[in-house]
Amino acid sequence: MFIRHEFFEKNAIFLLIGTLVTIAIGGIVEIVPLFTIETTVEHVEGMRPYSPLELRGRDIYVREGCYLCHSQQIRTLRDEVERYGHYSIAAESMYDHPFQWGSKRIGPDLARVGGKYSNDWHYAHLHNAQEVVPESIMPHYAFLAETPLDTDDIQNRMKTLRTVGVPYTDEDIANAKADLQTQANPDADSAKLLTRYPKANIVPGNGHEVTEADALVAYLQMLGTLVNFANTSTERLQQ
Ligand code: HEC
Repeated sequence: MFIRHEFFEKNAIFLLIGTLVTIAIGGIVEIVPLFTIETTVEHVEGMRPYSPLELRGRDIYVREGCYLCHSQQIRTLRDEVERYGHYSIAAESMYDHPFQWGSKRIGPDLARVGGKYSNDWHYAHLHNAQEVVPESIMPHYAFLAETPLDTDDIQNRMKTLRTVGVPYTDEDIANAKADLQTQANPDADSAKLLTRYPKANIVPGNGHEVTEADALVAYLQMLGTLVNFANTSTERLQQ
């Protein structure tokens, strides 16, 4: 073995070829599974694309860099599962472009924060985190509740996502603005919204305009709520 090694060390060209072959193997191992991604990500009951309001909330989450302190990926380790709930599965991020997994955990993981607190808690927490959690170091986002949500391009955003595989129908896109308004208005008839986007959380809104805080709270409240793990078989994944 050492003699062959010497051969490589003394012949620069072969060393180069040997290095390239080794790297190529690593590359193939990483790249080939991506061609079978359709079959790798199993379809799980309950997963649906984001409602228009949640989608805008997600954009604000990304714009504000919330991911710099929060991951959305519960690992299979026991302490994580006990703290946050069932570990994240691939299907839960299938409509995320880009996904929000990350490893930064200055704040807690948010993959299953939906439904953990009331809407009011989230508004108060975004307004001034220390008011609700005195020892918090999370910055204040009070301006979100005062900033009207830009809804003009919602249909284009949904169309763009459709080109990368998110299954929005023509009907979803045609009703985008109405659905967005409905989700931020508890007095509106939400039946159609809820058929298109089951489990969508209606946020209280302020009665006259939809704000960025409404969108962000709608998004946070749906995180991790779509898949019912009691009915979903993940034994294959369980050790
Ligand atoms: C500087 C780091 C930092 C940034 C940036 C940040 N957070 Fe936090 N966040 C924290 C910390 C620390 C906590 C835990 C204390 C608390 O609840 O406030 C937290 C808690 C939370 C919680 C409660 C989680 C739970 O399970 O109790 C939510 C929801 C949340 N953040 C949302 C957001 C959103 C949305 C943004 C972006 C608009 C954001 N955070 C930006 C640090 C941050």
